[in-house]
Amino acid sequence: MGNDMKAAIYPGSFDPVTYGHIDVIRRAAEMFDELIVSVLDNRAKTPLFSVEERVKMLQDVTRDIPNVKVDSFHGLLIDYARRLNVHIAIRGLRAITDFEYELQISQTNRKLSNGNLDTIFLTTSLEYAYLSSSSVKEIACFGGDISQCVPPEVAALIEQKYRELRAQGINP
Ligand code: PNS
Repeated sequence: MGNDMKAAIYPGSFDPVTYGHIDVIRRAAEMFDELIVSVLDNRAKTPLFSVEERVKMLQDVTRDIPNVKVDSFHGLLIDYARRLNVHIAIRGLRAITDFEYELQISQTNRKLSNGNLDTIFLTTSLEYAYLSSSSVKEIACFGGDISQCVPPEVAALIEQKYRELRAQGINP
């Protein structure tokens, strides 16, 4: 990354990406020359979608935003940011309940990186304030309508994933 380019990383699980994330991506992409949306490869968690599936979904839903790049990382965010020479992380804040957790992560990251990684918070648009990847999964799992929560291509993949799991005899 050249020094004159302002870049930021938007890290997350994105399991799956929702309209709330897309809102943050669009707004952050306006503020920086490059926005790297990066999927955390967390082997300790059991996600619904693989990292590759989540990267592909993010690429699909951001294909009309030219300065967005989709990537993945594992390990610490500060190490990944250092490798990319990026000094800003973006996070969305939905409600006061997000604040304590996010404050802890952002302060830990600033301390661990000796001031080299700062976090910028975007408050999510009110219509998405109650949206989360886990509630989307729960609604879809019980056959509810998720069309207000995720783009149609993502909704189709979630429904397909639950059908596949059930076909394998797994009761999600
Ligand atoms: O979408 P999520 O699951 O709320 O995202 C959390 C994420 C990926 C931003 C956070 O867990 C993270 O950055 N993990 C990488 C490990 C790390 O750097 N931890 C130090 C902060 S305590």
